[in-house]
Amino acid sequence: MKISSVKFIQSSPSIASCPKEKKVPEYAFVGRSNVGKSSLINYLTNSKIAKTSSIPGKTQLINHFLINNQWFLVDLPGYGYAKVSKKARANFNHFTKQYLIERKNLIYVFVLIDIRIKPQNIDLLFMNWLGENKIPFIRIFSKCDKINSIDTKKKVLEHRKSLLKYWEEVPEYIISSSKSKIGKNLILDKIEKSKHLVP
Ligand code: GTP
Ligand code: MG
Repeated sequence: MKISSVKFIQSSPSIASCPKEKKVPEYAFVGRSNVGKSSLINYLTNSKIAKTSSIPGKTQLINHFLINNQWFLVDLPGYGYAKVSKKARANFNHFTKQYLIERKNLIYVFVLIDIRIKPQNIDLLFMNWLGENKIPFIRIFSKCDKINSIDTKKKVLEHRKSLLKYWEEVPEYIISSSKSKIGKNLILDKIEKSKHLVP
C-alpha cells in the first residue's frame, strides 16, 4: 500500500467524542510509554504528524489520523511507565480500555513491545486483557536497530515462551524500527488485507 494522504482528524478525550464514521476501518497503536508508537506512525505515514518525545507520556488523548481517505490510524496514550503521573495511568485505564472494547470499526490493535527488554508483566497483562475481550491484536517489536539479529531472535523466543504460559497459540508479530526504517511494508500489508473486515 502506498500512503498518498495523511490527515490529522482530532484528539478525543473519550470514546463518545471519537469520529462518528462507523464504516471506516480503524487500526490503533498501543504499548508502554516511550516504546515508539508515535515514531512508528510517523515512519509508516512518512510524516511528522504524530508528536514524539523522549519524555514518556507525551500522547495523552485518542488521536485519529485519516490515511488515503480510507482508513483511520489511531495513536493512543502509553501505559505502565513508572514515571507517568497517576492521572495519566488512570486515563489509560478508563478511556483507552473503553475505546478498545467499544470501538466497532477497530480491526486490529498493534501492540508495541520494545525488543530490547525482557517480557514485562504489564505487557502480558494487557495482551491477556485484549484476549479476554476478544480484541484482535498483532505484536510489533520496536527499536530493533538497538540490538543485533541474533539477540532479536532470542528476544522473540523469550516473548513466545512467556506468552505460551497463558496462550495456546502465540499471536503474530512484526519486527520494526522507525530509525532504520524496518517493518513498514509488513504492517501496511496487514492493514491492506484486513480493511474489508470492517462491520
Ligand atoms: P508516549 O506517547 O509517551 O507513550 O511514547 P511513544 O510510544 O509514542 O514513543 P515515541 O515515538 O515518542 O518515542 C519515544 C522515544 O524513543 C523517542 O526518543 C524516540 O526517538 C525513540 N524511538 C522511537 N522509535 C525508535 C526506533 O525505532 N529506534 C530507536 N533507536 N529509537 C526510537
Ligand atoms: Mg506517543
